[in-house]
Parts: sequence; structure tokens; C-alpha cells
Amino acid sequence: MNVDLVVAGSGFFGLTVAERCAAELGLRVLVLERRNHIGGNAYSEAEPETGIEIHRYGAHLFHTSNERVWEYAQRFTAFTGYQHRVYSTFKGRVYSLPINLGTICEYFGRAFTPDEARALVAEQAAEVAGREPRDLEEKAVSLIGRPLYEAFIRGYTAKQWQTDPRDLPPEIITRLPVRYTFDNRYFNDTHEGLPVDGYTAWLERMADHPNIEVRLETDFFDLRDEVVGRVPTVYTGPLDRYFGFAEGELGWRTLDFELEVKPTGDFQGTPVMNYADEDVPYTRIHEFRHFHPERSHYPADRTVIMREFSRFADRGDEPYYPINTPEDRDRLLRYRAMARGEDGVLFGGRLGTYKYLDMHMAIASALSMVDNRLRPHFTEGRPLT
Ligand code: FAD
Ligand code: NA
Repeated sequence: MNVDLVVAGSGFFGLTVAERCAAELGLRVLVLERRNHIGGNAYSEAEPETGIEIHRYGAHLFHTSNERVWEYAQRFTAFTGYQHRVYSTFKGRVYSLPINLGTICEYFGRAFTPDEARALVAEQAAEVAGREPRDLEEKAVSLIGRPLYEAFIRGYTAKQWQTDPRDLPPEIITRLPVRYTFDNRYFNDTHEGLPVDGYTAWLERMADHPNIEVRLETDFFDLRDEVVGRVPTVYTGPLDRYFGFAEGELGWRTLDFELEVKPTGDFQGTPVMNYADEDVPYTRIHEFRHFHPERSHYPADRTVIMREFSRFADRGDEPYYPINTPEDRDRLLRYRAMARGEDGVLFGGRLGTYKYLDMHMAIASALSMVDNRLRPHFTEGRPLT
């Protein structure tokens, strides 16, 4: 194989490695991608009937406080001024999230000062004071009190995990921030926005370098024997699969999406509406046109919505969120030891490290791999282990 580096997977991690190695180190890079498109889960495309940009693997919001990542991203795309906000429907009423002073005033039906709201939540959380929470429900009640837990956490969490929160471990939530202000911006990073001409245009510009060849619909494992031990490799696919599931499968949650074109110019008035009621089967509805209010070419009489359902992943499903049970963590340690022993292969990204990574984290982590592992290997001959 006449290349310097093979990258398995064309998500943000793989493309950042490929782009830096091609542009900065002058290497010839072959990117192998199992799917029929680049970009991993950040991929987006125009819905054919309406032209509205949809995110096929779930809504993607870009935000970062990492100046290096922000500077790097802007080489490939400009960003809109989009700021993410989320609302939740519960028992026929709408509330703003994350839980903030506005949510509390709306929910309890009167005005609270920040101090009054703090005192109320402390009083309502007192029922589990003084002992270790035994399950997710007790943990949540200890943080925000029973009424807000029952309204905004209980049903939503039960649907996310297909499990009663009383049967879930308390560790699933470490914090449940309540904001005692009316600020309902979802992210508090320094930089936030959406790529002006879409995620796929951004991802394609990263791959658009004469030293980069992308092969779609190509599974790394079909070429493994030609690659491993011969060409330095960065693998961003599932860690357990690389080792033939020798230590068992790492657990993931997956999502199912239902896309629908609606005959109205505006279905819900906002990009994301959560559904906290347990008897509503989906967790949320995305309405993609609202991510780009600046786009004047979107039709005025039709809109695209996507309902999201959550469940445990089987082997054939797309792995989305690591479950991270104690057994998963033990397995992960054993797989990590095996990965260190695999000479010439580096493991990275969300699937390759069994770690949920936002896009900015995947990019930052890939830039570090180039700095700390790949550049020293290719410029100083340091071994790639
Ligand atoms: P991925 O994007 O998963 O890319 C891995 C690629 O490797 C895939 O294209 C896959 O097909 C390919 N691959 C796997 N195995 C093989 C193989 N054997 N051979 C060849 N190719 C292979 N981030 C945010 O910043 N904001 C968000 O709002 C956000 N929302 C998200 C919502 C969901 C539902 C999910 C799952 C993720 C979300 N993310 C979000 C994270 C983002 O999608 C990426 O996961 C992140 O950028 C990490 O990228 P990656 O390259 O590590 O992984
Ligand atoms: Na290795």
C-alpha cells in the first residue's frame, strides 16, 4: 500500500488527523470509511423534498471554549450566531431548560427571587438529606427536590434508559445544575455557532487535500492484513470490535429517529422540544429549520421534524452513548492494555476510546495525537506504540 498513514473512520477525529498529517507533515493519507459518506455522526444532508439541512445521526450543536479548536474549525467554515436553547413539554405545559429560575417560577406558578428559589429547592431536597442516595431517583431528589425531579427528570430518564430510575445506579448523574437566574442558554462555552453552509461542507473541506484519499464503503477489517504492521494506522472504530470482542462487548445506548415532513412552515416554534411525560414514547422532537433562521431558501409551507427514541444498542445498532457500567469499565481497561500492545496502531475518537466526545473534544484530542504521537514518529522516528 503506497501511503504513509491509514486512518480508519472519517468522523471529526479521523478527518482532523488526516488533514493535519497531510497539510502539516506532508504525508499521503488513506482514509477508510465503512459508511457511504464521510463525517461520522456529524454528517448532515438536505432533506430532498424541502432542502432543509437535517442531521441524520441526531442534532449536532457546535460549541467550544478551546481557542485552538475554534481557530482550527474556522479554517474550514464560518459559523452563524446560533445559540442553543431547549424547552420541555410536561403535562400539556411548556417549560424552559436547563432548570432555571424561569422554570421554577413557571412550574410553581408564582414569582421567586433567586434566594427564595434556593430555599425552596433545599427544603424539597431535604427528604434524602443525611444518607447516601441508593438509586438515581434518590440522588436526583437530593439535588433538586421531588417536584422538579418528578416533572423534568423522572419520565425523561426512564425513557432514555428504558428503566425505572429507582432501578438505575445513582452514579449516572453526578450533578443536576439548577440555575438561579433566568439564563436559559444551554451551553456556557466561549464560542458557539453552526456551520454557515452545513456540517458536510465543513467536513468535505477538511478532506479536500491532494494528499488525502478517502475510500467510502470500505471496512477497515477487509484491508486489515494489508495495513496492520505495514502502514502506521489510526483506528477510530469500536475498540471491542478491533479485538474481536475478546473481552466481551462494551455497552452502548443507541437512538432511533423518525423523520417526517409536515405541511406547515413551523411545527413547534423552536429547534428542540423535550417530552418529559413517560407515556409519550419519544424523548424529543427536533425541527431542523430553526437551527438556521437566517436561511431564506427554506420553504414557508413545509418543515421537517425528527422524533428521537432511546434504547440499549445491540451489536448491529449504531453505538451512540457509552453506558459505562462497572463491568464496562473493567473491560475497557483490558482493551486499553491490548491497544497499547498493538504496535503501529493508535486508537482514537469516540468509538476507539469508548468515551462520549463532543465534536470540539474529538478535534482537540486528534490535534493532541498529532502533536504527541504522530509528528514525533514521522519527524523524529519515534516508535508508534
Ligand atoms: P464518529 O463521528 O462516530 O466517526 C467514526 C467513523 O468511523 C464513522 O464514520 C464510522 O462509520 C467509521 N468506522 C467505524 N468502524 C469502521 C471500520 N471498521 N472501518 C471504516 N470506518 C469505520 N457533538 C457535539 O459537539 N455537539 C452535539 O450536539 C453532538 N450531538 C451528538 C449526538 C449524537 C446522537 C451523537 C452520537 C454524537 C453527538 N456529538 C455531538 C458527537 C459527534 O457526533 C462525534 O461523535 C464526535 O465528533 C466524535 O467523532 P469521532 O470521529 O470520534 O466519531
Ligand atoms: Na498501540
